Amino acid sequence: MQNKSASIWEETFAGGSPQEEAKLFDALARSMVAIQRRNAVRSGRVGQRTLHAKFLAGSLDAVLAIDENAPERFMQRHIQRGARLSAKVRFSNASSLHQADAVPDMRGIAVRLETAEGVEHSLLATNFPVSHARDAVQFVKVAEIANGPKALILPRFLLNFGLAETARIVRNVRFGSRTIASLAYERFWSRGAVLWGDAGPVRYSFIPDAEANASTDSNDLSQEFSDRLKTEGVTFTFAVQPYLDPIRTPIEDGAVEWLEEHAPFVPIGRLHLPPRQDGHDEKATRTAIDAIAFNPWTAPDAFRPLGNLNRARGPVYAASAKEWRAR
Ligand code: HEM
Repeated sequence: MQNKSASIWEETFAGGSPQEEAKLFDALARSMVAIQRRNAVRSGRVGQRTLHAKFLAGSLDAVLAIDENAPERFMQRHIQRGARLSAKVRFSNASSLHQADAVPDMRGIAVRLETAEGVEHSLLATNFPVSHARDAVQFVKVAEIANGPKALILPRFLLNFGLAETARIVRNVRFGSRTIASLAYERFWSRGAVLWGDAGPVRYSFIPDAEANASTDSNDLSQEFSDRLKTEGVTFTFAVQPYLDPIRTPIEDGAVEWLEEHAPFVPIGRLHLPPRQDGHDEKATRTAIDAIAFNPWTAPDAFRPLGNLNRARGPVYAASAKEWRAR
């Protein structure tokens, strides 16, 4: 149990201990790699991530600038007032398959911060505030079923999760999967908690500056973003939402939203993707970003991911990246 911040919080390990939980997560990692292999055969595309396979856009020279007047509580380690942290950014479609952007889907942002001292700190988020899965076992089961025959999805959900959980999961996925006009208009949430040094657990969010002014959703989010960066930069406010208590802001249950009416987001910085310079090589940028294995566990211990869903992501992302990199 930890009480470094004002609130008391703790993590509960599946199977009763970190060692037992690690065995379970290794099995989940193998299941996710099996999905990647199956999809590679099915689609003829090898070397693709198990999820978030399709690159949409990104930047190698983004900056996370911490506000000069950001609250002291969230100023931890390299996150300090006035700091300008170099950032590499990848936007993606969440699906395990490459599909047209006009197909409803969730979208992701992956950010790798790098300091001059060599600290790496990854922040991953999707454009829906709460996970469909309560824990990693449920997450991987949903992925397995969703990647199987379409006609069997509903019966297999019902068999595995029962009626109430199936209804909740289906509702979440339906609301979370949409078409969008531009990545620049989307808000992204971490969904899971991470440690924020002595400030304790937080969830975080990237909130767009740009207001949607396109009436139609885009079938080519890459082109839309690249055209936008020819004339303007894209900026998101970076905000953290502090943990309160196990009921309103649970650490282990990923399917519970931390409601802003209880735990408001506190802005602490701005993520800026600068406009492209003349002669910018779009293809080379894309290749360089796509080669980065983003993993929420690529972070200092003081910023480690928390909770069952997030703990599983360490071994699962590592195994997934090992597989696509080997291809
Ligand atoms: C709950 C919060 C989660 C968020 C916000 C999230 C977000 C993301 C994002 C943005 C990416 C794309 C990374 C990139 O651009 O390279 C990604 C990839 C991925 N996610 Fe998650 N994810 C979450 C949970 C999970 C869980 C619980 C699992 C499985 C246990 C999982 C499995 C994966 C895998 C396998 C990849 C591909 C990684 C790779 O091959 O490099 N995710 N996720």
